[in-house]
Amino acid sequence: MQEAQITMNPDNSFTSLRSIHLSLRFVIPLAIALALFAYGVVPLIDKLTLKWFARDLDIRSQLISSTLNDALIDLVLNKERGKINKLLLKATRDERLLAVGVCSSDHKLLYKTADFPKEISCKPSTDEEKEKKFLIDLSQGPVHISRTSLHFENSEIGSLVLVHDMSFVERRSTDTRKYVIILFLVQGVVISLITVFVAHLSWRGWLEGVRAMMRGEGILRPFSQPASAELQPLVGEMRLLLRNLETERRHADDMTTTWNPAALRALLNKQLTGDQVLVVSNREPYIHIKTEQGIAVNRPASGLVTAVEPVMRACSGTWIAHGSGSADRETVDRNDRVGVPPNKPEYNLRRIWLTEEEEQGYYYGFANEGFWPLCHNAHVRPIFRSSDWLQYQKINQRFADAVVREARTDDPVVLVQDYHFALLPSMIRRQLPKSTIITFWHIPWPNPESFGICPWREELLQGMLGSTILGFHTPFHCKNFLETVDRYLETRIEHESSTIFHKGQLTMVEDYPISIQWPPEWQGTLPPVEQTRTEILAELNLPSSHVIGVGVDRMDYTKGILERFAAVERMLENHPEFVGRFSFVQIAAPSRSTLEEYHAFELRVHSLAARINKRFDRAIILKAEHHTSEQVNRYYRASNVCMVTSLHDGMNLVAKEFIAARDDEQGVLVLSQFTGASNELHVALIVNPYHVEQTADALYRGLTMPEYEQKERMKSMRSLVQDFNVYRWAGKMLLDAARVRQREKLSARIGRLT
Ligand code: G6P
Repeated sequence: MQEAQITMNPDNSFTSLRSIHLSLRFVIPLAIALALFAYGVVPLIDKLTLKWFARDLDIRSQLISSTLNDALIDLVLNKERGKINKLLLKATRDERLLAVGVCSSDHKLLYKTADFPKEISCKPSTDEEKEKKFLIDLSQGPVHISRTSLHFENSEIGSLVLVHDMSFVERRSTDTRKYVIILFLVQGVVISLITVFVAHLSWRGWLEGVRAMMRGEGILRPFSQPASAELQPLVGEMRLLLRNLETERRHADDMTTTWNPAALRALLNKQLTGDQVLVVSNREPYIHIKTEQGIAVNRPASGLVTAVEPVMRACSGTWIAHGSGSADRETVDRNDRVGVPPNKPEYNLRRIWLTEEEEQGYYYGFANEGFWPLCHNAHVRPIFRSSDWLQYQKINQRFADAVVREARTDDPVVLVQDYHFALLPSMIRRQLPKSTIITFWHIPWPNPESFGICPWREELLQGMLGSTILGFHTPFHCKNFLETVDRYLETRIEHESSTIFHKGQLTMVEDYPISIQWPPEWQGTLPPVEQTRTEILAELNLPSSHVIGVGVDRMDYTKGILERFAAVERMLENHPEFVGRFSFVQIAAPSRSTLEEYHAFELRVHSLAARINKRFDRAIILKAEHHTSEQVNRYYRASNVCMVTSLHDGMNLVAKEFIAARDDEQGVLVLSQFTGASNELHVALIVNPYHVEQTADALYRGLTMPEYEQKERMKSMRSLVQDFNVYRWAGKMLLDAARVRQREKLSARIGRLT
């Protein structure tokens, strides 16, 4: 888009004038130099032509002399004056031969034609003798004199003097001078025109190159056009310099900023000068539902909502989402907006309405039966239907239109969330070309082969490449995405700087590991862990000495719930001392349950729990219902071990929430190696959930871990989550966006200047 703006720049005529103006600064000195040159060259040419003509006349004189020689000698010896004069007169018929004279051996002029100049005597002047100068300026003009001896039988009887008119040389010299000056002038004009033209082209090319560099192309990103040869060294230098600066700056940001809501607000005010921030997600952060007691507000079980909500509260922007609650329509104003959080509004929620059919096709069908299994390695086959794809396109367009309506300026910062909106970035870009679009992909990105089975793979990738910045949780997902684009689209990818250039749009692909808010919501307001533990055990009708593990998930086949239960069973088999002393509480929020795959999964979870409980009474306590975050937090605090055994997960925030809940620095986290979180939480007990014994051993190790070791591990993980919190996640993306915006503004300014 930016590329298009620059090529369509209305200031182009101004650019031309400026480059012509700059070129003239070169041309005028050139013209002066040429004039001086011509001035110096003309006398030289005069001298040269004179020399050439003199040599010419020498030869000519010799020829005439030798022709006259024999006849003259006889006539002179016989003193036949009449014949001699006739002969001399005949010779002077040649228009250039002015006069001819015959001298005696004692230098007396014996015979001469009428025009023989009286200034010329038979005896050569000393000048003529010494300097061999045969060119003399007489009153009638310059003449050339040639003297040849006349010999008879070895003795000199006289000499023949030929006087050639040289004024024609002067005439010719004047002509030559005229032509030389004209030649230089024409040459000067031609050189000037070529110079202006070349300077104009290279000035434009150079500026275009600099502009491209300012946009980061070729430095952080590839050039839209290959850099010209003369720019190559500069590009290399600038590339290195900018990359070092960027790294240093990012590093410095990391080191110096304590990320919290205030830091995020400061960033927005300083770096983005209060620009409008719009968030788009499918799931809304607050759902109004009708209950028998009236309208209630629900918070959905969604990692996305958990992460983005605190950011929105810090930014006070607008969040656009599907209004899915039964009382959602009743709680919005006439613009479909409602202030949230409901008890103390801090930002606007703009709701988008979908019919059942639309929700079925776009959300259940394409997003959750197609895209979700496509991106997760959980061995569930994606289902792609053309009718779902049509709905997906239609709803993406509806959200894009809503973004345009909510935008107060033509360049808002739009945060697009997740796989429900792969087409949205390019749709927004079409309508708001100057917007900064940050798309964050909350789930994994598969390898090119896996992604390649999607019938609309090119369209989806093109849609995503409307983004300014495309964020994933891990470098590995970024790499998968770059490789996928490389496989299926014609683009220029610069792996070093992780950028993609496609159809005039540059997209920066970066990893931004998502996190949770810190300090945690309940910090300082909760009863001590021991008290919560006693209460929870009592609520579960378990003895106070009981040991508990906890799992908190949506009821989703990617979460490894079945594998977890199998590990619990194996642990009890291997360590019977825990039978009757240990229970695993599984909180499973209902999710997408109208889909066949989810429904079948839920049945399998229930049936496996029942089977295990038959062997080991109350080994699994399955709570397959919605829990508030406050309730979930109590379970985190009450448990000895938290198990996160996803088969594939973008990040998994349950792991981080558990850590945040444990201000007593106790409790053990068993964490799947297939979560994004395992990239950061190295001191958790990392497991392969497909390996049942290994997971069972980790659970046992967690249950028997000494307190000091629990403390060491928990302390280290808490400090990491504290620093790498969700404000940092958002802050890093917004900082990168601010840098891109600054670069684009600078580039636009250069465009106006040139
Ligand atoms: C995952 C997705 C989110 C989604 C959440 C809950 O975390 O990345 O986009 O909101 O699951 O799923 P649901 O379909 O209920 O919104």
